[in-house]
Amino acid sequence: MGLKIVSKILEIRNLVRESRLKLKKIGLVPTMGALHPGHGKLIQEARQECDEVIVSIFVNPTQFGPNEDFERYPRTLAEDIELAQKAGATMIFHPSVDEIYPEIQKTWVTVDQLGDFLCGSSRPGHFRGVTTIVTKLFGIVQPDYAYFGAKDIQQARIIEQLTTDLNIAIEIKIIATVRENDGLAMSSRNRYLSPDDRAKASKIYQSILEVESLVEAGELRSDVLRETLTTRLKSIEGFKIDYVEVVDYHTLQPQRIIKQKTIVAVAIFLGGTRLIDNIVIDPIPSNSSLPSTWEGE
Ligand code: PAJ
Repeated sequence: MGLKIVSKILEIRNLVRESRLKLKKIGLVPTMGALHPGHGKLIQEARQECDEVIVSIFVNPTQFGPNEDFERYPRTLAEDIELAQKAGATMIFHPSVDEIYPEIQKTWVTVDQLGDFLCGSSRPGHFRGVTTIVTKLFGIVQPDYAYFGAKDIQQARIIEQLTTDLNIAIEIKIIATVRENDGLAMSSRNRYLSPDDRAKASKIYQSILEVESLVEAGELRSDVLRETLTTRLKSIEGFKIDYVEVVDYHTLQPQRIIKQKTIVAVAIFLGGTRLIDNIVIDPIPSNSSLPSTWEGE
């Protein structure tokens, strides 16, 4: 059966209902389009686990700030449909803004604390827009599984929290970041970069990897790791740092000494384009025989 492409909430609901009656497992991959192989990976993973894979394509206005790139965000529906289908999508849902946001909307979803920091500090209101659209998509599609990329690790953690807190029966899957050959995390915004800046952009991931090596060599003081990474990134011409943070995976808060799963996350501006990247490191391997009282100091 061919790919189904719909733009109305009622249509997607009806299609999903039919599939569910046939006991099909439903996977949802929310996107804003301008799809690249990073999105493709999410769709492929969904295809492995689900019978129906619904890719939503919606440039969500409520998650963009007034001076951000909502208007010029790339919209490439024809190519997106092709990529999504090749990766294993069975349905595309691409609603209009009016379909999703009726004139009066009084309900917004916010997750305490997790959105205050990192991208939340420099993009006020961003996560409120994300959590609201994702909750709407969850309500519309009601999938069994929903797929998010580790590239936007704060977003993924916030959505995990939201589904737990609101008792939403959807399993959240976080998929590893897909990178270009030189290490740059794939992003719809990479196409804004000039060739010069594109070449420099690979330094983001390379610099983050240097921090990983420091941790492997035993450096667990997060301020040292943070300072080292900041100095490194600052030394690259054209990089303007938005943030460099070393935070606990679960709380997304800084810890003096990193003890468990930790996120090293950066956001930089390069030629007016904001790029983010992160890695997750576990300073204590799970098979470690360290005593449980070990404080890492
Ligand atoms: P968008 O930026 O289109 O990303 C859609 C999904 O693809 C997100 O879960 C994102 O983390 C994932 N993704 C992007 N680049 C990736 C890469 N290089 N490797 C792996 N996964 C990657 O994130 C959004 O849209 C929106 O905020 C959305 C969740 C759709 C809500 O509007």
